[in-house]
Amino acid sequence: MRITLKKAVELLNHGLVVALPTETVYGLAASLHQPEAIEAIFKTKKRPSSNPLIIHVADSAQIRDLVEIIPTDFESLSQAFWPGPLTLILPAKQEKIPSIIRANLPTAAFRIPSHPLVREILSLTGPLVMPSANLSGRPSATHVEHIEADFGLDFPVLDGGVCTYGVESTILIHESEKWLLGRLGFISPEEFKPILGYVPKLFSSTQPKCPGQHFKHYSPHARLHLSSFALLKDQCCIIGFREGHYPKTNPLIILGSLDQPKEVAENLYAVLRQLDLEGIQEAWVDMDFPSNGLWNTIRERLTRAAEITQNNISQ
Ligand code: TXA
Ligand code: MG
Repeated sequence: MRITLKKAVELLNHGLVVALPTETVYGLAASLHQPEAIEAIFKTKKRPSSNPLIIHVADSAQIRDLVEIIPTDFESLSQAFWPGPLTLILPAKQEKIPSIIRANLPTAAFRIPSHPLVREILSLTGPLVMPSANLSGRPSATHVEHIEADFGLDFPVLDGGVCTYGVESTILIHESEKWLLGRLGFISPEEFKPILGYVPKLFSSTQPKCPGQHFKHYSPHARLHLSSFALLKDQCCIIGFREGHYPKTNPLIILGSLDQPKEVAENLYAVLRQLDLEGIQEAWVDMDFPSNGLWNTIRERLTRAAEITQNNISQ
């Protein structure tokens, strides 16, 4: 059910969960001060309780109020990237942040989003916890229709159009005086160099620093092949690029242009969801794209989406 901004604020203040647009992906929002609504988020998403939530706020003063210490470079990161697609993991004031949000960790995740509608809502509600608005394991939602597909037509959602960034925020974790990359996202690691003086390193996938990285993610029901096109079956769907040369006999879904990683990121989850809408069982993805910046996030999301579909098939 598409609702107005006023109604969204009213429902949030009454302890209900609503879906809201952000510049990255849609989020499922609940007030920091409404424990039942926070529990409802985990139930609605079918999200394991060991996967903590990001607290979204209107300004960094609200973060200062909720954390134990402000680490080095917090101020410069905040000025460079907020409002925007950056999430920082900081030592939490545990008495102020319910443990269900933190999955019992001593830290909490914070982000100041830039989408004008969610900013207006945050100024009226105070801090909101907000995971991506998708069933756990599914591709994130970048269109209102994606939320309706996962949670039904009656689920309250504020329509903010298409989320133009299309992939989630980049997560940084402060540890031993350095910032580490908890999750690749819209901001690429190199973009932190002018601010931090170094490119933050990614934790290896066997030792994920963000608990959410353990879980299955971003997956359509369709089986994705990232392998060579030599194995391409007749009539099987190809996910590719506008400039690509592909067999004419196979159906083609275009992610965007090889010159426009932002366009590809914006379309990524909608394309993965399109496979399911069209009842496509298998698709080959053209992985022949650059290995820099936002392309690395796109590669990581596609790899995660494909790994899981393969696991599902073998189960
Ligand atoms: O762009 C985004 O970040 C979107 C929009 C809605 O803001 N939100 C989002 O939330 O992607 P979610 O819940 O889908 O992903 C949050 C990630 C999870 O991998 C979770 O494990 C990690 O943040 N996280 C949250 N709190 C953490 C903490 N205290 N320590 C380490 N990782 C944490
Ligand atoms: Mg998510």
